[in-house]
Amino acid sequence: MALRPYIVGNWKMNGTRAMLTEAGAIDRGAARHPGVQVGIAPPFTLVQAMAEAVEAIVVGGQDCHTQASGAYTGDVSAAMLADAGAGFVIVGHSERRAIHGEKDADVRAKAEAALAAGLGVIVCVGETEAQRDAGKAEAVVTAQIAGSLPQGEGAAAQLTVAYEPVWAIGTGRVPSAEDVSAMHRAIRAKLVALLGEAGSEVRILYGGSVNAGNAAELLGCDDVGGALVGGASLMADSLLSIVLAAAGPGDD
Ligand code: PGA
Repeated sequence: MALRPYIVGNWKMNGTRAMLTEAGAIDRGAARHPGVQVGIAPPFTLVQAMAEAVEAIVVGGQDCHTQASGAYTGDVSAAMLADAGAGFVIVGHSERRAIHGEKDADVRAKAEAALAAGLGVIVCVGETEAQRDAGKAEAVVTAQIAGSLPQGEGAAAQLTVAYEPVWAIGTGRVPSAEDVSAMHRAIRAKLVALLGEAGSEVRILYGGSVNAGNAAELLGCDDVGGALVGGASLMADSLLSIVLAAAGPGDD
């Protein structure tokens, strides 16, 4: 069974309430393509307002704490995100790994907290340019998968993996279609090895400089089940072009 494509916008630290009109436009556009699942992860401050304003798309967080509550100044828990109306959370984004020093074990704990709160979870993995140049990209990414995936019965059903080569994020550079296909096949094999048959039903998103111009080719690569989109998700027109590419011909 083909998995429903999943296009997720990661707004990063962008967006004030004025951007809710853009979210509304994304929501109305997404409603015309029910064959594609669309999500937006705005900053925490917009999660509740956006969740209340949209109908066709799902709203998510960009990170969560490992604990449900407690003395963790500045942090937000998965349970709080769920309470605000979120349906998913991104964990292990390379900006969290690089800037906040998050390790695979932290990412796994966050993913497990997300599942415990009833959220879907998008676990991000990806190699640096130096790791790719050294021929270690697949080894690095499959090790991140092994270390970061949530454990436990039923985890696969709520899990999405996002492959985002660090060197492709925000740079306008993308891997070749052959390299994307090879990596996604390697991730699929690892998911099946770790999760059994359930691993074949986990969507694997590609992320890193996805835009309206390259989306169709990237989404057509082996085992690419959608896209995690940063810069191009901030405007409804560009994100909806990517949604259209995911919907395929005949779905205008
Ligand atoms: P980008 O970001 O599309 O701006 O490259 C992708 C991401 O970081 O998720």
